[in-house]
Amino acid sequence: MLTEEKNIVLKSGGTALLRNPSESDAQGLLDYLRITAGETDFLLRYPEECDNLYSLEGEKVIINRINSSENELMLLCEAGGEIAGVCNLSFNTRIKTRHIARIAIAVVKKYWRQGIGKQMMNELISIAESREEVLQIELEFIEGNHRARAMYESLGFRITCVRPNAFRLKDGTLLNEYAMARPVIRKQN
Ligand SMILES: CC(C)(COP(=O)(O)OP(=O)(O)OC[C@H]1O[C@@H](n2cnc3c(N)ncnc32)[C@H](O)[C@@H]1OP(=O)(O)O)[C@@H](O)C(=O)NCCC(=O)NCCS
Repeated sequence: MLTEEKNIVLKSGGTALLRNPSESDAQGLLDYLRITAGETDFLLRYPEECDNLYSLEGEKVIINRINSSENELMLLCEAGGEIAGVCNLSFNTRIKTRHIARIAIAVVKKYWRQGIGKQMMNELISIAESREEVLQIELEFIEGNHRARAMYESLGFRITCVRPNAFRLKDGTLLNEYAMARPVIRKQN
């Protein structure tokens, strides 16, 4: 799916651009994956698991697939000429679950606390809500990710269930995963 580009204002007063990726972002997106994986334990991969995950050509294929999909959207935040954050929205397609949309997001650490995460989330929520059959938006966070939890709660997400021991870190620490959901509230005419 493609969306219109949108300028956003950061808490620093600077600006950034929310836009779909293009093939020329492939290397930047691969770098972003590795960087964000090394900045927190709350994402699925360790940095070395991002190496050789996708080739440059493979990443271009993914970008084109998502951009031309009717049910998937990738939005990146470009700040200072680099990728500051990426978020994804996906719509379920099966009859029994197509009332659910899913969101995932990660912002590069040096851009945290600038309002990028929340503005990207708001953009995805509004796109999800524009699809009439969507009644609920879902996402997950890992135990201890207080920043993400606070952001999601401030946007109306609430914890629905816990998956015990979803992550096991290199030092053996086991972490639960929490699922969250946010109902879509539509104004009645
Ligand atoms: C979670 C994350 C996306 C937030 O992005 P961000 O750009 O820093 O977010 P924002 O600046 O828009 O802040 C969003 C909200 O986070 C919360 N927040 C910000 N700083 C916080 C802090 N120090 N402690 C707790 N919550 C905090 C607040 O609710 C804030 O909303 P507010 O500004 O209206 O008060 C970012 O920290 C990140 O990418 N972390 C690593 C990857 C990750 O955890 N992804 C989510 C996986 S579930």
